[in-house]
Amino acid sequence: MAEQFDAIVIGAGPAGYVCAIRLAQLKFKVCLVEKRPTLGGTCLNVGCIPSKAMLESSHHYHTAAHGLAKHGVKVSGVGLDLPTLLARKDGVVKQLTGGIGMLMKKNGIAVKNAWATVKGAGQVVLEGGEELTAKHIIVATGSTPIALPFAPFDHTTVLDSTDALSLTTVPSHLVVIGAGVIGLEMGSVWARLGAKVTVVDIATRPVAIMDEDLGLEAQKLFAKQGLEFVLGAKVQGVAKTAAGAEVSYTDATGKTHTLAASHVLVAVGRKAATAGMGLAEAGVALTERGVVVTNSHFETNVKGIYAIGDCREGPMLAHKGEEEGVALAEMLAGQKGHVNYAAIPWVVYTHPELAGVGLTEAEARAKVGEVKVGKFKFAANGRALAVDATEGFVKVIAHPQTDELLGVHIIGHNASELIGEAAVLMEFKASAEDLARCVHAHPTLAEAIKEAALASQGRPLHS
Ligand code: NAI
Repeated sequence: MAEQFDAIVIGAGPAGYVCAIRLAQLKFKVCLVEKRPTLGGTCLNVGCIPSKAMLESSHHYHTAAHGLAKHGVKVSGVGLDLPTLLARKDGVVKQLTGGIGMLMKKNGIAVKNAWATVKGAGQVVLEGGEELTAKHIIVATGSTPIALPFAPFDHTTVLDSTDALSLTTVPSHLVVIGAGVIGLEMGSVWARLGAKVTVVDIATRPVAIMDEDLGLEAQKLFAKQGLEFVLGAKVQGVAKTAAGAEVSYTDATGKTHTLAASHVLVAVGRKAATAGMGLAEAGVALTERGVVVTNSHFETNVKGIYAIGDCREGPMLAHKGEEEGVALAEMLAGQKGHVNYAAIPWVVYTHPELAGVGLTEAEARAKVGEVKVGKFKFAANGRALAVDATEGFVKVIAHPQTDELLGVHIIGHNASELIGEAAVLMEFKASAEDLARCVHAHPTLAEAIKEAALASQGRPLHS
């Protein structure tokens, strides 16, 4: 006899577990099914959280080795204890994934650790044969790294992002294919821990998805830190060698070059994880790339089957998945769930960080014409000078007639935290003048955002 629920959520990443909590708050009887032994999905287990733990540790190591003398702090004998660094990272993951387990208990959510197959509307079967039924089935199965056809992951020399979180030695030469979010974050970690890192991308600037000025500044700053960029390069092959691998690529003129690597990290994007779970067989429409096709209410073409997070369209960001989880739960409860896709912040957690929300300058110009743009460099911000974080700038883009904030982009220390105020203001449709007139504490890095907004009005105070 099948166990009955109001809702079955498949996948316990940020989209799935948050949806499960919100459903439980709204009095649904919920079952959360997860193939991994721990909850939290890619984000907590092998993504956002462990990479941020490693970014922090590698930053401390780098600062201790190279950044303290100018502060008058003398250190000697700085060394790297990689096993301790990795153990700390694993401890952070364990604490957080355990915390999600507690949250499930607290909210009365049934958790089943098994592979789930969707048999049709209302029906799910777990490996081992256990049957579950529910009015609502929510697919929140996330995404997996894309492999290059000529370079399958062997997980020792040709690495995916998960492998790059657990290397037990510092690579002598890490070649990263893809100067996107993962390539820059993991490339930075290993470069700071002492690896030679070369980042190869077919695009002509890093993180091409973000505002052009940010990408160009990032390239300049990271090159200064020792990252080598090979851009406009089409990778053609990865051949294993005794010492690692040889990466061959063609440049813009069609000339072939090779790079000898000890390790190769392939970070060319992620794809929806929807294979082998019966969706197509159950009649659920998927795109050619396996993305679940949904309407604006997250519902698929099969009534009662929904999708949220990385496995449906949109940016593959944990916070986008979380918001979709909450919105869907509220819609299923008859409320007005909503996600404002125009105000979803992006962050690259390098040092300095890159963050943006809203339209890039190019997108804004294409949409509304001659926009107002204000820029302010952290080099002119008192706090930035005091804490030795003068790299980067803030850029504010506003509508030429209404002055509505269209986009805010930051490259600089703590950009991930600074972008929050811009996202909130954009959610409330604030104008650049509103932002410019908000009181910001002095001295703070956030004053640079106010100054960039003032600059967009043609009246900066400190530049
Ligand atoms: P990405 O889409 O950010 O970057 C992939 C890069 O690979 C692009 O610059 C592209 O031009 C390049 N590329 C593609 N094919 C290539 C080829 N054959 N040769 C050379 N270059 C090639 O993808 P990434 O970094 O793998 O991240 C995947 C997803 O994970 C992203 O969509 C991101 O949203 C998410 N993510 C978000 C993080 C965050 O919010 N901080 C952290 C890590 C991942």
